[in-house]
Amino acid sequence: MRVAIMTGGGDCPGLNACIRAIVRTCLLNNIEPVGSRNGWLGFMNEDLFVMDIASVSDIIDRGGTILGTSRINPVESDERFESIRQTLEKWNIECIIVIGGNGTLAAANEVAKRYVNIIGVPKTIDNDINGTDKAIGFDTAINIVTEALDRLHSTAESHHRTMVMEVMGRDSGWIAVAAGIAGAADCIVIPEKKITIDEIESCVRSKYNRGKKFSLIVFAEGANIDGLPEENTAKALSEALQKRTGFETRFVDIGHVQRGGTPTAADRIIATRLGVTAVDEAIKRNYGIMIGIKGDTIVTPKLAEIVGEYKNEEAVEDLYNKAKVFFG
Ligand code: F6P
Repeated sequence: MRVAIMTGGGDCPGLNACIRAIVRTCLLNNIEPVGSRNGWLGFMNEDLFVMDIASVSDIIDRGGTILGTSRINPVESDERFESIRQTLEKWNIECIIVIGGNGTLAAANEVAKRYVNIIGVPKTIDNDINGTDKAIGFDTAINIVTEALDRLHSTAESHHRTMVMEVMGRDSGWIAVAAGIAGAADCIVIPEKKITIDEIESCVRSKYNRGKKFSLIVFAEGANIDGLPEENTAKALSEALQKRTGFETRFVDIGHVQRGGTPTAADRIIATRLGVTAVDEAIKRNYGIMIGIKGDTIVTPKLAEIVGEYKNEEAVEDLYNKAKVFFG
């Protein structure tokens, strides 16, 4: 039996730990693992290679993906899908383990509808994949953002400044809320919850009035605020706050730093659990599923039932409501 492995969409820490787990479990079970370079592109261009133990040794602590990634849509045209199908046939590949975020898993579901055996594994620092509490990469990202907030804390305090830090999260506030709690944010702005400039200003002022003359505001990139432009909203917010309060304000965009480097132990463990289970399910020929985690239990929802929607907003809203205790 031959099983292919690919990583698609944005990279994140923990992908290599997952690839390692998949390859090692395959080899233990006499399955030949095949790596696809740069996501779906590898199948389109027949850029595949048979993986062995050496190809995954010393990689558990490495960020990024040894396979490379891309944001190519495999079913954008019939020709594209046909080239993938031909490669799968030529290489005698029985199933593809797709490690991806919302976009890649939705595409994987489209590929599955065309009779390709797929097992999905969720990864994204945004942690917004339906059907799983945790995605590979999230824990590392929130640790990086928390450390950045700790560092901003001391410089903000020394200069008596308001700091507005933009974090990733195109459609979801998980990173902002989780790291905002851990990094003692004075206000958090996320796409799921409306907040006005007046409310943010009052967080900054009330902290100032009780003698703490600095503030940390965490802003998820996908959030909007009435009265501010939809592009570069966090920067516009920092300018508006400086104007309104008269307090010196700085804007910080931590950007792709939060997606790079060494994965945390928690991400390595999640990635390993999901990777080993993906192969266990391939052995059972249980295809068309995603391997997720609910609570501390591994779950295997049908791919078709979880793609197309983001994770339930109530969970992030609940966490946000806890974070609000510390606003201002
Ligand atoms: O989906 C993960 C993510 O990191 C988002 O948070 C972010 O908006 C996007 O990817 C950035 O994508 P790119 O690396 O292509 O700029």
